[in-house]
Amino acid sequence: MNVLIIGSGGREHCLAWKISHSRMAGHIYAAPGNAGMSDVAECIDIGINEFEALADFAVGHEVGLTVVGPEAPLVGGIADYFRKRGLDVFGPGKEGAQLEGSKVFTRNLAQKYGVPAAEGKVFSAEEYNEARQYIKSSKTYPLVLKADGLAFGKGVIIASGREQALDCLDDFFVGQKFGPAGNQIIVENFLTGYEVSLLCFYDGNNIVPLDLAQDYKRIKDNNQGKNTGGMGSYSPVPKVNQELMEKIMDSIIEPTCRGLQQEGIDYRGILYAGLMISEGRPYLLEYNCRFGDPETQAVLPRMEDDLLPWLLDCSQAKLKDTPIQWSDESCVCVVLASAGYPETSSKGDIIKGLEKLAETSNIMVFHAGTAFHQNHLVTDGGRVLGVVGKAASFEQARQNIYAAIKNIDFRGKQFRKDIALNVGR
Ligand code: AMP
Ligand code: GLY
Repeated sequence: MNVLIIGSGGREHCLAWKISHSRMAGHIYAAPGNAGMSDVAECIDIGINEFEALADFAVGHEVGLTVVGPEAPLVGGIADYFRKRGLDVFGPGKEGAQLEGSKVFTRNLAQKYGVPAAEGKVFSAEEYNEARQYIKSSKTYPLVLKADGLAFGKGVIIASGREQALDCLDDFFVGQKFGPAGNQIIVENFLTGYEVSLLCFYDGNNIVPLDLAQDYKRIKDNNQGKNTGGMGSYSPVPKVNQELMEKIMDSIIEPTCRGLQQEGIDYRGILYAGLMISEGRPYLLEYNCRFGDPETQAVLPRMEDDLLPWLLDCSQAKLKDTPIQWSDESCVCVVLASAGYPETSSKGDIIKGLEKLAETSNIMVFHAGTAFHQNHLVTDGGRVLGVVGKAASFEQARQNIYAAIKNIDFRGKQFRKDIALNVGR
């Protein structure tokens, strides 16, 4: 079966790599893909939001399944469009993708179906004065302010005191810093604990969880500095035991899926829960409607099953109620970012040394912001490469990765040195 993967990041490279090992896979296309994907996929020059051109391509090239990587086309309704044209596609339609596209939608659903989340309140721009009052009367800080809509991961502000919270409120409603994404906001309490990412296949009937992962959002070691798209990840997460996993499924995932069903929303794709574990109890921070990046790069290398049948079954609402088989190994992904990231990102710097890793079987490199320019591999965005290692222990995987990173060079290379440090196993 021919497969079309939509997107151009490390997540999509990893999806293409895993699908390339499928016994069912025929030709693999990526739109638009990136420089590193060409070893496992044919990159085609169609943008992620060009629904008609993408569907025409799928029809013309006998694509049996289209897998959508990023959220923007899902929130924009790509899956509905493909299904209307009779094409199988992995990812929820526009209604289901609201779980990521609207934090207010998710908060309301969570409240209605009893999913534990931080206490808070929704305000629209017309309720500016009420929001000010709410902030002023808050006795606990930090307070968290969130834009309703998609904001490239920058729409969540953690205000350490009242003045900062009021300034943020003005950024949302007066300065309109987040445009229409900030027409409604949520003000909520700050939860403490540790975060985990749980990705599940969900097809409207069955829920099949993938193994847990943790990602690292801040640019610097010890979770310092600015938020990024993700600087690294690891899987599994040893500190989450079976009992806690059951709590997560029973108190968060199952009520959400029941809620989607009762609201009449046909969801077929990944349901990705961002969770805070606080004193042994899970709370929902957010939902995403797609594979996580860089969680995917730490999770899929451990998946022993063939991925493509899972994707296809889920997209056709025929998901099997059986667990996925996982390797016992530990997997780590360390992201190499370009100079200036996350405020800016550089393009066109030559990337050297990848050929030295070609013989190293314990390392994989997934490309994100890379391109070819005059026969050179160059940087082409903020997150450039994900270096992934799988080994008997996290410590061994880390050693392999950090030894490999020494060989990879480009101007201003940034990476964290504490990914999967001291996580057990
Ligand atoms: P979200 O997009 O809602 O997941 O928020 C992005 C990040 O902000 C999360 O991964 C958390 O690190 C942080 N965050 C969001 N909401 C809260 C909260 N209520 N308490 C503590 N941290 C939060
Ligand atoms: N790793 C966070 C995300 O994919 O949104």
